[in-house]
Amino acid sequence: MAVLEGNHLTKRFAGLIAVNAVDFQIEEGEIVGLIGPNGAGKTTLVNVITGIYPPSEGEVYFRGERISGEKPYRIGRRGISRTFQVVQPFPGMTVKENAAIGAMFGAGGKQKSARQALERAEQILEFVGLADLKDKSSDQLSVASRKRLEMAKALAMEPQVVLFDEVMAGLNFGEIDQAVELIRKVRDTGKTILVIEHVMRAIKSVCDRIFVLHHGEKIADGPVDEVLNNENVIQAYLGKRYRQLTGQGED
Ligand SMILES: Nc1ncnc2c1ncn2[C@@H]1O[C@H](COP(=O)(O)OP(=O)(O)O)[C@@H](O)[C@H]1O
Ligand SMILES: [Mg+2]
Repeated sequence: MAVLEGNHLTKRFAGLIAVNAVDFQIEEGEIVGLIGPNGAGKTTLVNVITGIYPPSEGEVYFRGERISGEKPYRIGRRGISRTFQVVQPFPGMTVKENAAIGAMFGAGGKQKSARQALERAEQILEFVGLADLKDKSSDQLSVASRKRLEMAKALAMEPQVVLFDEVMAGLNFGEIDQAVELIRKVRDTGKTILVIEHVMRAIKSVCDRIFVLHHGEKIADGPVDEVLNNENVIQAYLGKRYRQLTGQGED
């Protein structure tokens, strides 16, 4: 049985179909990539999965149970967490306090005291490589460290499934490699992962499978190499990125 499944998911905003009849399945332990042009509906899909928006049509299933229609905190408690594309540290709080808030919600949150949440925060900051910055104000962090803190907050919720929404945007090559390494390390702890990313080099090296959204519709789904060589995907999205990846010339 799939860990996470979308069945004919559609999300409409007044006059606009952001996600259009999307079916997807994610199996236990997979790292699945989600790619597509800006505005394709990737973040909206994450918002629908995590309950920020109820779907206009269709359902989301987690381990076979229908979760669409539930409130975000309930879905979090079931074991699904996500990062935000526009990083959202809690202002005026330290890095450790930010991570501790994640620890108080989500799958592990219910039984935790504040002290236990802070302990959990320390562990997770160690795991993501932010331990040295734990007492800094989150406003003082570099872009790469903010992205890492976003990941730490999501992981502090002790999810079974984690959705990473553009955690590599704005990073340099070295930082991207480190982020890829961290995502692999997260998978090695037994989690199932959806990675939304424009950095094709990273997608190629970290994903078991990818699917592609274009104007809200899923236009491809399969093994990485197959999808990246799919003519529709190249036309809709990859273009220049594809040529950079394969070293082929301009049009
Ligand atoms: N809350 C909202 N209200 C109205 N339109 C929205 C809202 N959120 C997203 N959209 C629109 O839905 C489309 C998909 O957006 P989004 O899911 O953010 O795309 P992506 O993450 O793939 O770049 C865009 O046209 C965007 O403007
Ligand atoms: Mg987005």
